[in-house]
Amino acid sequence: MSKSYFIETYGCQMNVADSELVSGLLTREGFSETKDIHTADAIFVNTCAIREHAEDKVHSRLGYYHQIKRKNPKTIIGVLGCMAQNLKEDILESKPFVDIVLGPDSYRRLPEMIRERSNESSHLVDTKLSRFEVYDDMFPSRNKGINAWISIMRGCDKFCTFCIVPFTRGRERSRSVEGIVQEAAQAVSDGFIEVTLLGQNVNSYHHEGQKFHELLDAVAQIPGLKRIRYTSPHPEDMTQDVLNVMAKYDNICNYVHLPLQAGNDEVLNRMNRTYTKDQFLARVNQIRNTLPNVGISTDIIVGFPGENEAEFQETMDVMEVVKFDSAFTFKYSSRPGTKAAEFDDHVPEDEKQHRLERLIEMQQKHTLFRNKAIVGRVEMVLVEKESKRSKKQWAGRTDANKWVVFNKENAKIKDLIPVKIMDARGITLHGEIVQIQEMEAA
Ligand code: 5AD
Ligand code: SF4
Repeated sequence: MSKSYFIETYGCQMNVADSELVSGLLTREGFSETKDIHTADAIFVNTCAIREHAEDKVHSRLGYYHQIKRKNPKTIIGVLGCMAQNLKEDILESKPFVDIVLGPDSYRRLPEMIRERSNESSHLVDTKLSRFEVYDDMFPSRNKGINAWISIMRGCDKFCTFCIVPFTRGRERSRSVEGIVQEAAQAVSDGFIEVTLLGQNVNSYHHEGQKFHELLDAVAQIPGLKRIRYTSPHPEDMTQDVLNVMAKYDNICNYVHLPLQAGNDEVLNRMNRTYTKDQFLARVNQIRNTLPNVGISTDIIVGFPGENEAEFQETMDVMEVVKFDSAFTFKYSSRPGTKAAEFDDHVPEDEKQHRLERLIEMQQKHTLFRNKAIVGRVEMVLVEKESKRSKKQWAGRTDANKWVVFNKENAKIKDLIPVKIMDARGITLHGEIVQIQEMEAA
């Protein structure tokens, strides 16, 4: 009988894509995936090291796997991804029940390691980072759904001083345009209608002279692909070419995730973010000038070492000017090994918390402001799932990445349909499907 494995994923979308890659690899090698952790021959956790909180969650899951292994000592336990890279010594010393530790560039070795481990060898570890590995030839085994995650590049060369990613995922390298287009086309023939192109810094994408806008242009031409999203660009590297391609194709979503991180030039400089507040604001204007009604979201960190109240206030000022559609907000978390971890003058936890709360409150106002601005408009919405609140309603996203709920009528999941936005409450929009006859009459 084939060996079964259970895999769970923490962290970013890149990790979701990586887990699907691992599943594809294991399936091709004759292993079978199970959703029952208690009967699995092997348990894998794909981990995230971006903040301490993400690591804590994985540590607690590992405690649970340990209990399972006590009952069934033959269960193989594997830690994959960024924490494996970052904490291998710690894991091997303090968690001897972990059998396999594999960094993000070593997934190809997993089948062989499972087989070796069955022969009771000692711990198997591979956390070498590669300058070349992009898994271009490997087709992931995706969970069924609407959206297919496609990683277009790996690693990061930006070295923002707070960020562990350049250390856990190594140097930046891109896949071929052909490999990506082929994978996206395969996803469409497997029933997916949206793809999200993933990279730590997508607009640094380059492969044999081809840049990100050329890749976007090629992907947009895949027949049957209704929506294309991408994340994340770096504000410094966003180009007019990318914006022009976005404007040219209806199936490229009118949405940009543009991480601000902080609004004060000193803090940005200490973060090594390579742009100033004014340059960021100019970038936002450039985006909005090329793409009317674009949705813009962001990432913001509060409590970076040395950030004082006046500097934090400047972040709020930038938010007030831009009025992002949404924001992912984080308290700074010191990551050993990064440059910022050596900076002194750490902001106390309660101050970080207080700043975070002020930021969230302000963002909620801005989200509502932006949402209210589209009440009365007809938006194309992709029907994605049943609304959590009512079985009679669908939930789907607009082009600009806003969730809308509306009565199901005769619409089906995966339909891309016109919905009139009737109301904006909290962070959700409420709408009504516009029947085609009404559209024609209008
Ligand atoms: N502490 C807090 N947030 C962080 N991020 C990255 N590293 C850290 C850290 N050490 C945030 C950034 C990034 C997002 C993915 O996670 O805002 O854009
Ligand atoms: Fe981390 Fe900066 Fe690279 Fe993003 S761009 S992964 S924040 S180093």
